[in-house]
Amino acid sequence: MSVILAIESSCDETGVAVIRNGREVLSNVVASQIDIHKVYGGVVPEIASRQHTRAIVEVATEALAEAGVRHPGKPDSTGLDLDAVAATNGPGLMGSLLVGVCFAKSLARVWGLPFIPVHHIEGHLFSVFIGDRAPEWPFLALVVSGGHTQLVRCDAPQQYALLGATRDDAVGESFDKVARLLDLPYPGGPSIQRAAEGGNPGAFDFPRALRSHDSLEFSYSGLKTAVLYALRDGGGPPADLAASFQEAAIDTLVIKTRQAVEQTGLRQVALVGGVAANRLLRERLGALEGVEVFMPEFKYCMDNAAMIGAAAHALFEAGVRGDSRTVPSPGLPLV
Ligand code: KG4
Ligand code: ZN
Repeated sequence: MSVILAIESSCDETGVAVIRNGREVLSNVVASQIDIHKVYGGVVPEIASRQHTRAIVEVATEALAEAGVRHPGKPDSTGLDLDAVAATNGPGLMGSLLVGVCFAKSLARVWGLPFIPVHHIEGHLFSVFIGDRAPEWPFLALVVSGGHTQLVRCDAPQQYALLGATRDDAVGESFDKVARLLDLPYPGGPSIQRAAEGGNPGAFDFPRALRSHDSLEFSYSGLKTAVLYALRDGGGPPADLAASFQEAAIDTLVIKTRQAVEQTGLRQVALVGGVAANRLLRERLGALEGVEVFMPEFKYCMDNAAMIGAAAHALFEAGVRGDSRTVPSPGLPLV
């Protein structure tokens, strides 16, 4: 049993959640910075950390109130008791991570609670445990975000094996870069998905890198370059370019996931990370024969603190604890 206050601040969302037993979300507040970074066409790290500093107290206050948590500093207050405070401690932007980790450590110290540092990708993995339907260990995970494209064998909580990752750009990054080429707003994923509606996905034959390789690696930089060359060679209707790019990007993910299923024999697949919000990907992966796919609700795909709380519950149960000297790590590896 646990009630955990969780904080996510690795990139451009300030998230605070209260979660019970790793699956029941009592509150999940996210303050997005998208509108602030949009004018620059991407996340500006220095602005992101300042914005986290500005937002975190109010976001946390709202999350605690909504969950009905007892105020540890006020003896006459009533409500739920917290068991731990958790925060993402990497990977991510250092300035942004520092805000969440320092805030969480301070709360934990003054409230006399344990502090639990959480790996951001482990958070994404646990987003499929929120709610009623969850995979059974071991399972396969396709992690697709702005910084990661990975196939991970999940044997047990905190026991993961990396089966394959991208050699260059992450798939979300390629959506963001191609959106810029097509003059579509940041973040590129939702913009391209919208622009692709009504477009012809067969109009351009963009590459599916490494498709016939046995390895479970990905490569997305060639796809971005192919779009650049298509534009240089005269382009075409933006909807066709967006639809053909999206088709190629998603096709590659499905091909590699099918290979991973065949190679590992694992038939349960978790689809997690910001790109898991992509409709075409959800549809295509969901249609794979003989595979049971677990996808988080849309609100738990993009960065949020509920998923950090879900992972923190498993760490709490395993006795994992940080301390007042814990420092975030921008390049923290999962395995
Ligand atoms: O997990 P996330 O919120 O942050 C990171 O940990 O990186 O993922 C953000 C990424 C961005 O690259 C964004 O363009 C992409 O997820 N994304 C999408 C969609 N929604 C967000 N990509 C494709 N289709 C979408 N609907
Ligand atoms: Zn993420």
